[in-house]
Amino acid sequence: MDKFIVEGGVRLSGAVRISGAKNAALAIIPAVLLQPGVYRFHNTPNIRDIWTITRLLGAMGIHSELNKNELFIDSTNINSYEAPYQHVKQMRASINVLGPLIARYGRARVSLPGGCAFGPRPVDLHLRGLEKLGANIDIENGYINAHTEGLKGTRFHFDVSSVGATENVLSAAVLAKGSTILTNAALEPEVTALAKLLVKMGAKIEGIGTTTLEIEGVDALKSVEDDIIPDRIEAATFLIGAAMTRGKVQLDGVNPYHLTAVIAKLEESGCTLDVTGNTIMIEMNDAPQPVDITTAPYPGFPTDAQAQWVAYMMTAPGASRVTDMIYPTRFHHVPELHRLGAKVDVHENTALIQGGHPLSGATVMSSDLRASASLILAALVAEGRSEILRVYHLDRGYEALEDKLRNLGASITRVKTDEY
Ligand code: UD1
Repeated sequence: MDKFIVEGGVRLSGAVRISGAKNAALAIIPAVLLQPGVYRFHNTPNIRDIWTITRLLGAMGIHSELNKNELFIDSTNINSYEAPYQHVKQMRASINVLGPLIARYGRARVSLPGGCAFGPRPVDLHLRGLEKLGANIDIENGYINAHTEGLKGTRFHFDVSSVGATENVLSAAVLAKGSTILTNAALEPEVTALAKLLVKMGAKIEGIGTTTLEIEGVDALKSVEDDIIPDRIEAATFLIGAAMTRGKVQLDGVNPYHLTAVIAKLEESGCTLDVTGNTIMIEMNDAPQPVDITTAPYPGFPTDAQAQWVAYMMTAPGASRVTDMIYPTRFHHVPELHRLGAKVDVHENTALIQGGHPLSGATVMSSDLRASASLILAALVAEGRSEILRVYHLDRGYEALEDKLRNLGASITRVKTDEY
């Protein structure tokens, strides 16, 4: 088990290259199940969640290799249609194999994901959408058993905007007979990245980037190469880190269009941002203004940057509110932030923050991926030494975070520990 030791008080400065998006890669990789063949994905982040999905494919007989950031997958031979609990419990996004397996092979057995650190996370929309396409689904012994004699085009409306459900149902619809119309589809850039990949593979999809996707099923696809889009949540984390430490940081390899809500809120708090092409320069010299945020589906403020924003607002003298509309109980970072001196109360789905109080280093524990990022950012501005335990959560989704932070001047070291 690893932990981080952080000495606070350093202003982040310099340049950092943003890695490929975890959630885009996790949406795209299961598409190799739709068409046997050889795939190459450039700019794949070398992180634990990618190792998990490739291990899951490995359990189905599919060979893959990740060299630095190049992912090679040969999906020609598949000998199992099952996603076992041991993989799904490590990463919920494993459920993304369900749609492709049913569509291509007419059967799938996928462990039902349970709840997670930030509350219940149902998969009812994934299942209802696939059933509407003609999959027969039952739940037995904690597994989703699905089979079909052939999917047929349909109309399906997502009751709530769901990234994963849109990805699963869209992936299945591309091989269904006839046309499918999906309404209230999620708009997240990772969904769009999947849709574009599917089109590259030969799928017929209209309305990409909108909430209505029209799909005309095809009989077969082809295997392709693709680039994974930049990780907007990693980018948001560095932007917030620069703002918190009153730093000056250049982010390279980003897509600023994916970050408009975060950029607008940072500007409102007093940061100077300069956007040119795929680069964002951020500078902050003063104490920030308190700024409220409410998370929302894209293009709203992302729930995956909510924990980092709470940490940021701890450094803004005055009161601010952070409301999470996507995951109302996603506030496990707050009790740990209290250990660093934060004054934050949580009422229902809102954190009420009294910022501007001095923070002091402490030992804190990560509870999930983005909560870990929030604790690290807070430790960067706390006086003295902090220890962040259970950084395996962080390793799921941030590529070489400590190296990138060290290059920006932070004092952060990874050490092995028996502490749990
Ligand atoms: C994805 C992201 C995650 C992000 C989340 C919201 C991946 C791998 N993960 O998760 O990082 O925090 O989007 O942007 O891409 N819901 C239902 N029924 C369903 C599915 C979802 O009610 O069948 C609800 C959820 O409880 C939640 C909302 O819909 O309130 C959005 O969740 P969803 O977009 O599905 O999240 P994920 O795809 O799991």
